Amino acid sequence: MLLEVSGLKKGFGTGSSRLEVLKGVDLSMKKGELVALMGPSGCGKSTLLNIIGGLLKGDSGSIKINADPPMKYGTKSPNQVIEVRRKGVGWIFQDFHLLDHITSLENVILSLELAGMSSEVAEQRAISAMERVDLSERMRFMPNELSGGQQQRVAVARAIAGSRPLLLADEPTGNLDVKAGESVIELFKELCSDPDDPISVLMVTHDPLLASKADRMLLMRDGVTASSDIRSAWGEDAGVES
Ligand SMILES: Nc1ncnc2c1ncn2[C@@H]1O[C@H](COP(=O)(O)OP(=O)(O)O)[C@@H](O)[C@H]1O
Ligand SMILES: [Mg+2]
Repeated sequence: MLLEVSGLKKGFGTGSSRLEVLKGVDLSMKKGELVALMGPSGCGKSTLLNIIGGLLKGDSGSIKINADPPMKYGTKSPNQVIEVRRKGVGWIFQDFHLLDHITSLENVILSLELAGMSSEVAEQRAISAMERVDLSERMRFMPNELSGGQQQRVAVARAIAGSRPLLLADEPTGNLDVKAGESVIELFKELCSDPDDPISVLMVTHDPLLASKADRMLLMRDGVTASSDIRSAWGEDAGVES
């Protein structure tokens, strides 16, 4: 397994305003897997991604990323898991988070330099990442000269350029039209099945059709994740909320 999350719990607040969000999440992902995570708004999807990504600590439970070096955390504070953010996970957000005043390629180079890479190595790596997302023709363009779908591809290049084995994508197609959204999922699938350097992607989406293109769907409900199929993803077996 590339990723092993076990018994992960997280709540916010104290006393009567205490909210238990994650109530013992167990989740594993293999290398090369594309997993879609669905669930109602506010159920804890972003919280789970933030803890896996080393931006937030859990209250109990553990997370392992079996990469080089192996990483074990879950309840460590963000300043104790710098390795996770540098070498473990890459991020894709709904709004692409690109810097507007430098070219697409420079956006990718900059993130590698910030991770400690020399400028020459960073440039080589960034160029090959832009090739992998099929943007070699446009890497000198400014972000605002690219379509939304292309900007999200730049964000994907930035996320994969550092050879991080796990990509966390929090509603990556939320700001894209249907076609551009589908092409981002296709790109994820290509990157996951790349025989030379497969990555794994954990993707939050509200779109059951996009989710159904993943290898697996997980539904988060009542603080845990469970495997799901397209029917329950559409909400057909959703319980009555009181
Ligand atoms: N830093 C925080 N402090 C207090 N409550 C939070 C915090 N972050 C998230 N929450 C709450 O935890 C719940 C889950 O949030 P979130 O993980 O963002 O849900 P989702 O991404 O599934 O929409 C929500 O009720 C949210 O208000
Ligand atoms: Mg969210």
